[in-house]
Amino acid sequence: MQHVYIENIAKYEGQTVELKGWLYNKRSSKKLVFLQVRDGTGIIQAVVFRPEAGEELYQLCDRMMQETSLIVTGLVRKDERSEVGFELAVTNVEIVAAPTQEYPLSPKEHGVDFLLGNRHLWLRSRRPLAIMRIRHEIIQAIHDFFDQRGFLRIDTPIFTPAACEGTSTLFETKYFDSMAYLTQSGQLYAEAAAAAFGKVYCFGPTFRAEKSKTRRHLTEFWMLEPEVAFLDLDGDMDLAEDLISYLVERVLTKRRHELQMLERDIGALEKVIKPFVRISYDDAVAKLKELGSDIQYGDDFGGDDETILTKQFDKPLMVHRYPADVKAFYMKRDPQDSTKALCVDVLAPEGYGEIVGGSIREDDYEKLLAAIHKHGLNTADFEWYLDLRRYGSFPHGGFGMGLERTVGWICGTHHIRECIPFPRMLERIYP
Ligand code: 4AD
Ligand code: MG
Repeated sequence: MQHVYIENIAKYEGQTVELKGWLYNKRSSKKLVFLQVRDGTGIIQAVVFRPEAGEELYQLCDRMMQETSLIVTGLVRKDERSEVGFELAVTNVEIVAAPTQEYPLSPKEHGVDFLLGNRHLWLRSRRPLAIMRIRHEIIQAIHDFFDQRGFLRIDTPIFTPAACEGTSTLFETKYFDSMAYLTQSGQLYAEAAAAAFGKVYCFGPTFRAEKSKTRRHLTEFWMLEPEVAFLDLDGDMDLAEDLISYLVERVLTKRRHELQMLERDIGALEKVIKPFVRISYDDAVAKLKELGSDIQYGDDFGGDDETILTKQFDKPLMVHRYPADVKAFYMKRDPQDSTKALCVDVLAPEGYGEIVGGSIREDDYEKLLAAIHKHGLNTADFEWYLDLRRYGSFPHGGFGMGLERTVGWICGTHHIRECIPFPRMLERIYP
């Protein structure tokens, strides 16, 4: 008997096949048992018709507990009402393992704390199935995008000797007889790699000891960071725009079914096409004031400001040239206005806010050294980084895209904790 996956079921119409998976849910009547079977690629209804299946099989299925692991054999037939377009007319069921006790997550609604505490089981449900498949699609699309453009993937270290994005969110860890920090960003190492290989990207876990409990913050999240030699700010914005529109299009073509399952407003995603809107920080502040925000000129945007601003547009918004004082030490200042940094934040529409932060890097040795001092960083830790300005310094830049924020926006989730398999947050490290 051929073992098939639910996502490929359409190819087997009219054939008898074998599915291996778990019982997701069940409903029965005197003559019928409807088994909802999941196998990690989808959920299908398997119908046990008592007069045909026989008494023994009917009883077995009628009594089966949720999350029993099983092998189901049956005939694939069309069913317009089904979410996968097909159902299975069951001819045999073999139980692999029956649960030793009642499964704690019933298909009814549960509170979010309960779900998070049972994340290892919650992952088996319908929503996580859709979200994780979209997350996977986005990851795969990122690699395809950069591969097609001739970028080299460079994996940067997780143990680091110094801060990249400010000292207030560092996780410290013992490193033999000294201390190390978990990386906040691979950028500084990607810069070294850009001098070696031209166009590179890193993509890995990053850590921030964020004390904030917002729906946009995790303490461990995945970040994609391209870094390109001889790039200017317009080029950096073009790259971000190309990438984001590609990712959205890829999910719309390959994971539409999952978007529908999540009840995502697909029309809103279809508007995400180039060119995006580009405005300066100055213009963004003026607009915010007009809209009633109490933002002070010179401040970075808060989450609320981003929400107000992005609700004005139905495409991602690129805000460039923030005041250098609110941004990271490595950013190059705008030669036209030295109070501004050559940087850009990409804010996702529908109130989702910042998904990308990027900049052109300071390539002047003296200016970079001064910035390191000004930010109270230890110069000795950055000697290797300063070397990049000593030996053939070059204009370059890139950006960081938060994977979970991007997934959250594309899926339309309320909180990014749903967008990573096992979220790490201020008050959660279990399971
Ligand atoms: O703006 P950030 O801090 O930029 C950097 O780390 C640069 N070194 C990137 C670069 O230029 N190579 O972070 C980049 C992105 C944010 O726009 C956001 O999407 C995500 O990383 N991010 C977080 N996502 C989840 N939880 C957090 N605590 C995050 N902090 C940043
Ligand atoms: Mg940022």
